[in-house]
Order: sequence, then C-alpha cells, then structure tokens
Amino acid sequence: MPQIVIGSDHGGYKLKNEIIAHLKASNYDIIDLGCFNEESCDYPIIAKDVANTVLDKNIKGILVCGTGIGMSIAANRFKGIRASHCTDTYTARMTRLHNDSNILCLGQRVTGPGLALDIVDIWLNTEFEGGRHLKRIEML
Ligand code: RB5
Repeated sequence: MPQIVIGSDHGGYKLKNEIIAHLKASNYDIIDLGCFNEESCDYPIIAKDVANTVLDKNIKGILVCGTGIGMSIAANRFKGIRASHCTDTYTARMTRLHNDSNILCLGQRVTGPGLALDIVDIWLNTEFEGGRHLKRIEML
C-alpha cells in the first residue's frame, strides 16, 4: 500500500479531507499531520512537518492552504523538497516528469474539488523522466 503524507491549514482543511477520502478509496496509506478543524492556524508549521516526513520517509506529500502559495513557499525552504503549486493538470504532469516534484500544493480557494482530485491523480501517477532533468534537479 503506497504511503503519502498530507497536511493543510484551516484554509485547506475541507479539500484536504476530500483528498484523503479519495486516496483511501485508492488504497493509499495516509499520514495526516493536520490541521484537524477549521480554527485558524499557521501554515508554515504544517508545511515543515510534512516536508520533514517526506524527507525522512522518502515518500510524496500533499499540502493544501487557501491559495496553495504559502504552503509552497514554506515547503521549498527545506533542502531536498521540490514543492509544486499546481492549478491545472498539465503542470501537475510536467512537474513530475521534469522536476521530480515530491510535494504537491493546492489552493482550496482557487481550485475546485473535481479538478483538484484530477491534479492529485495525475501528479501521483506520473513518473520522473530522469535523463537530462536529473542533473538539473541536482543543481537546485
Ligand atoms: C489563510 O487565510 C491563508 O492565508 C492561507 O491558507 C494561505 O492561502 C496562505 O498562503
């Protein structure tokens, strides 16, 4: 069963729960690092916990906030994290193929749940192309 870590702030709480239900139906083993209600909380703390889990366990992660931007700024401060804020399926596919993205960031106030779940599926099911792209991610 593939394992994945997920987190959100209050602005991404509802979409996080939709993603969890969707991934459980596809037999993913989910590590949910919060938040666990819609009370206001600080996205950098959740991003840090998810980033560290991605690095420690060598698994993929998903972060959701209102825009997806705060989470991506915060997660990308950790060496080895390549967090991608995606609002469409093309960039979700390309960021796996070319950037070996290991965290997907989504914005609940930007991307509706139907599109968000398509983005999640494409991002999770696209493999890194390697080749010329490997040296480039090694330069980061
Ligand atoms: C919370 O209101 C909001 O600022 C946060 O979810 C996120 O969008 C930050 O980038």
